[in-house]
Amino acid sequence: ATWLNLTLQDSASPVMEQLIFFHDHALMIMLMIITAVFYTMISIIQNKQTSRFILEGQMIETLWTIAPAIILVFIAIPSLRLLYLMDEIHNPAMTLKTVGHQWYWSYEYSDFTKLEFDSYMVQQEDQPIDSFRLLDTDNRVVLPMNSPIRLIVTAADVLHSWTVPSLGVKTDATPGRLNQMSFSINRPGLLYGQCSEICGANHSFMPIVIESVSTNQFINWVSKMSESSDDWKQV
Ligand code: CUA
Repeated sequence: ATWLNLTLQDSASPVMEQLIFFHDHALMIMLMIITAVFYTMISIIQNKQTSRFILEGQMIETLWTIAPAIILVFIAIPSLRLLYLMDEIHNPAMTLKTVGHQWYWSYEYSDFTKLEFDSYMVQQEDQPIDSFRLLDTDNRVVLPMNSPIRLIVTAADVLHSWTVPSLGVKTDATPGRLNQMSFSINRPGLLYGQCSEICGANHSFMPIVIESVSTNQFINWVSKMSESSDDWKQV
């Protein structure tokens, strides 16, 4: 995302791509309804609306009850399709566990030994000139692209929400509960996200940065991180 972006961010996962298609589909239906309603309202205003004979209109009442119901089906079916698509866990290649704290995220790569770290927002005074204010972290979540990833989300203190718009992932982090999501990233790059559950004074200051890399680079990073478990360094 860049400044003044009012629409959805570009997708970085197949699910987000589908979500954008659904959003556009719903907007088109909305546009048709708004057009019809405005046309009706204007024609009502321009009409004297007097008739000595019309007392009831069974036909029109039946129609304007059934028509909205049919329109709703056209929204509900693709919506349910997406809901179940997002719920599916497609044989994950690895698992990322993330724990929300006041006010930072911590990550555990349970498939590898000793691979866990905290991820704090970079303070303004330490900010490199090419980074995003309030959006960059000291330790990025490095993930391999083009492989199905299972995400386990929980919290240590209060409710948080792990939200990365470009992945179409938004999962509540709840103390005493593990929430599961699955996604795969289809391009390399940095993906940004933020906590989206009002979780206290520094709620705005616990961003998420995913560094999407190739599988080889990911394996290199894992072995490098596992070697020096005390001293964390980025790729
Ligand atoms: Cu954590 Cu808002």
